[in-house]
Amino acid sequence: FEVAWDASSADKGGWSSFMAKEIAEQPDAIANTLRGRIVEGAVEIPELGSLGPDILKDIDRIVIIACGTAAYAASTAKYAIEAWARVPVDVELSHEFRYRTPVLSARTLLISVSQSGETMDTLMAVKYARDAGVKTLSVCNTQSATIPRESDGVIYTHAGPEVAVASTKAFVAQIVALYLFGLHLGTVRGTLSTEGLHDMTRQLLALPEKLAEVLEVTDTVRQLAHWMADTRSVLFLGRHVGYPIALEGALKLKEISYIHAEGFAAGELKHGPIALIEPGQPVFVVVPSPRSSAELHSKIVSNIQEIRARGARVIAIAEKGDAAVLPFADEVIPVPLAEPLIQPLLSVVPLQLFALELSTAKGLDVDQPRNLAKSVTVE
Ligand code: G6P
Repeated sequence: FEVAWDASSADKGGWSSFMAKEIAEQPDAIANTLRGRIVEGAVEIPELGSLGPDILKDIDRIVIIACGTAAYAASTAKYAIEAWARVPVDVELSHEFRYRTPVLSARTLLISVSQSGETMDTLMAVKYARDAGVKTLSVCNTQSATIPRESDGVIYTHAGPEVAVASTKAFVAQIVALYLFGLHLGTVRGTLSTEGLHDMTRQLLALPEKLAEVLEVTDTVRQLAHWMADTRSVLFLGRHVGYPIALEGALKLKEISYIHAEGFAAGELKHGPIALIEPGQPVFVVVPSPRSSAELHSKIVSNIQEIRARGARVIAIAEKGDAAVLPFADEVIPVPLAEPLIQPLLSVVPLQLFALELSTAKGLDVDQPRNLAKSVTVE
């Protein structure tokens, strides 16, 4: 009796794909990114190198550059860094930043976000900024990659090697690393209260367990993906931190399922996207926690009613127990209760699983989608 064995399936540890394995590894990825960096409720990032408190106190603007999924991690973190450190944060795609003449000063901090640390456009943008006298910080998942070597400081995400082209565990780890930096910056600049800091660090430490809990929706999402295997177009709506998550959900789906997918800020509905709604159009809605801001929550509930009235099939990603959404959604995928800024780290998971399951249902190569590379090291 012989068991069929090959090296690649062994690496997958019994999972059907690297992407499935990497989605499941997210609780560990986050625990590793946090390890040793929260000490007695405060954040410690010794790898910041020359970017000490004196420099961080003095910066008046942050520009985050990245491509693909890393840019959506940056867009999510913008909300948190601005809230905690009260510094304006601009997020820009590396290739757009590079080919214009960006306004930079010695008080600008440029943060690059890159899983591989080798994306050519991001590397060239870092070099451009450095040559202009700007301080640079790298958020990277690959030890000793080129981008961190070219930067003044680095925060490694410690998510472990990511093999699937579609990024999952690196995405959540990038958000967490940027959050740690935002909390550190808020502390150094005196814009964050000790109470606020301790509350957020507690929330971050509880995240691995909540990520394990959200993975329990896998079977529900698999069923949904099977029903939707012939879908030709899927829309994603979100507000506030749910907006970059909607964009990331759409990106995951197009990357590995080859289905037309677009993400929108829910507030933009009336400015165009609502014209796309026709009977049967599937729309994922990332619903903010009812405890975040009653206004934000009620706005999205009315957005759901508006699209439902035009025949959309609504799949809501909503906090457990969010009763206001139930009457208007065709499906509700529950995520655990969390503070509003933590919620995107949980609500992205069902969207990753949906892309994975839909690609699998269509019999596609989940890990190596056509035309895409894990790291784009050419121009
Ligand atoms: C490629 C990959 C994406 C990734 C992007 C940025 O497009 O397919 O998954 O998000 O590059 O890569 P980086 O290594 O810089 O994070």
